[in-house]
Amino acid sequence: MAADWPAAAQVLWRARFTVDGSPVPESLGALEEAALSVSLFAIEEEESAEPVAWQVSAFFAEEPDKAALGRELGAIVGREIADLEIDEVPAQDWVAASAMHQEPVQVGRFFVHAPKDRGLLPPDAVPIEVEAGLAFGSGEHATTQACLEAIDRLAAVRRCRTVLDLGCGSAILAMGAARVWPTARVIAADNDPVAVRIARENVAKNGLAARVAVALSDGFRSDLIRRTAPFDLILANILADPLIDLAPALARRLAPGGFAVLSGLLDRQAEAVTRAYVGQGLRPHARLGTAPWVGLVLRKPQRLARRRAAG
Ligand SMILES: C[S@@+](CC[C@H](N)C(=O)[O-])C[C@H]1O[C@@H](n2cnc3c(N)ncnc32)[C@H](O)[C@@H]1O
Repeated sequence: MAADWPAAAQVLWRARFTVDGSPVPESLGALEEAALSVSLFAIEEEESAEPVAWQVSAFFAEEPDKAALGRELGAIVGREIADLEIDEVPAQDWVAASAMHQEPVQVGRFFVHAPKDRGLLPPDAVPIEVEAGLAFGSGEHATTQACLEAIDRLAAVRRCRTVLDLGCGSAILAMGAARVWPTARVIAADNDPVAVRIARENVAKNGLAARVAVALSDGFRSDLIRRTAPFDLILANILADPLIDLAPALARRLAPGGFAVLSGLLDRQAEAVTRAYVGQGLRPHARLGTAPWVGLVLRKPQRLARRRAAG
């Protein structure tokens, strides 16, 4: 999120519009530069697996000029915005609304739910209770779901002792990892202080404070991450460009045989992200997700074990 969130916002301005086809995620980065926050919902038709359009909400601290914003957004998404609507949203209500819209989500064994839906937990499901609020990570987004699916699948075949959730948002992935690997040491880190606060609250509400440490960290810079590395699993649901920038640092902090789960990238960006990590010695392991979003799982080879076996 490029723009600064106002310290004590009483109201926010929301611009809502629809874009046909599926090119909107391509311009998500540019939209995020212009707005405080952007939400994107795929509009799907039953017979089509691909979204047919995107419903976009962009939030601003100041009332935007509708005509000027329409032109600016049109330039960003590369087409005329025909249905732009701007309304005033009490900041308090917006936070509450995003929590209330949160419907339970089931991914593999995980059941992600808001506190109000605690009673709906299916038998044998692994609960993650989340109040995302201003942090990303309610479980509804395909990028988060790809990561949860990866965690669920990896847990079936592998024991992780150290896990890093980089760009933790609500800490949804860190909490999922802590649940399926009950003896693992888990770090949830984010460079956004608001996300760190919300992550801490969620971790405490899930009774995981003793096992999930939450840190403010830009990339791998925090002392806690340095001290705990290497990790058996690093989860990073961040956009494609930061993931490419982080490739050398991430590969260094991965233990031999360790996995990286990378999400927040689009289908057409998967190749460049894969190349960046393969260039650091990692090997593609899996590709998950719902188009146009892709989640990649890559593995660092067990060099030491292989040398020992060879010797
Ligand atoms: C798309 S959200 C993912 C939230 C959650 N992990 C999930 O999967 O739903 C990305 C998060 O990464 C954080 N982030 C972006 N760049 C980062 C960086 N360089 N270091 C740490 N956190 C970062 C953002 O603040 C945001 O909370």
